[in-house]
Amino acid sequence: MAAGKNIGLSETAFMTSIFRAQNAKLSGDKYAYLWGDEQSKHFAQKFLSRVSTEENFAHCLRNRYFLDQIELLWNKGQIDCLINFGGGFSMYPFVLPDGLKHIEIDLPKIVEVKQNQIEKWIEEGLLEKRDIEFIGADFNAKDLNHLRTELNQKTEGKQNLILIEGVLFFLSRDKTTALFEFFNDFQSPGDYIGSVSYLNKTLYTAAFERLRYFLAEELSDNDNINYQTLPKSFYQSQKGYQLLDHQDYFSLSKTYDNAVQNKPDDILNENFYLLKKINQK
Ligand SMILES: C[S@@+](CC[C@H](N)C(=O)[O-])C[C@H]1O[C@@H](n2cnc3c(N)ncnc32)[C@H](O)[C@@H]1O
Repeated sequence: MAAGKNIGLSETAFMTSIFRAQNAKLSGDKYAYLWGDEQSKHFAQKFLSRVSTEENFAHCLRNRYFLDQIELLWNKGQIDCLINFGGGFSMYPFVLPDGLKHIEIDLPKIVEVKQNQIEKWIEEGLLEKRDIEFIGADFNAKDLNHLRTELNQKTEGKQNLILIEGVLFFLSRDKTTALFEFFNDFQSPGDYIGSVSYLNKTLYTAAFERLRYFLAEELSDNDNINYQTLPKSFYQSQKGYQLLDHQDYFSLSKTYDNAVQNKPDDILNENFYLLKKINQK
């Protein structure tokens, strides 16, 4: 993590991993503990006490939900490639069965840190070798042609699930629409998208107000956050896709037996969507 009082936007990825490590049984991520130094752990604790004390469990459930969905689809032979957009330091490749291909896309500086660290841990025997390829890209770039070319080469026409979690909050609506058009052009019928976003009503909760205040104070590149929310209709109206599932923190808490502690106003309730491409555009 960068030195100084403020942290950068991309370093929120450390915080997510630290939260997942706080209940590895719930998150299903037994390797999340590997990430994060003392400074990022301190920042994560500050986030919990100042924004929402349940954010760690929300992150655990988010990971668990997608982990289980991906494993199910792999076991049913419906996907053989996971493409993680803004993958940060998530550890899906190491907690999913071997054989699945993984493509991890994030800002170049994050990808570099992750790739080096993963290679080191594999050499040290802490992690098993997996089929992972990394791509450095900025989703705010003017055009995504370079990303398209790399993805086409690396996926080799495999059936895929595109995962985008913890990212749309940072992007503008225009960039998000462009990104989903990109997904649509790239994917074939039978492919999937897993996505995470807030509903607009979350903006009016006490927890969200504290989040804005906290990020304005702590994040060095706070101006780059769009605080984007998306209605369910955004997913329902994706041409050629069918919305298969919609969950949130409360529904997943029931599924995975997590005791909700705070009132809804004090929880950052993310929504989780699973879409399947059923037709060409
Ligand atoms: C909160 S983290 C979530 C990481 C991971 N998906 C997870 O759930 O653990 C957000 C991630 O999105 C990435 N990100 C944000 N804006 C991006 C952009 N414009 N282009 C590429 N990656 C971006 C960050 O670098 C970071 O890794």
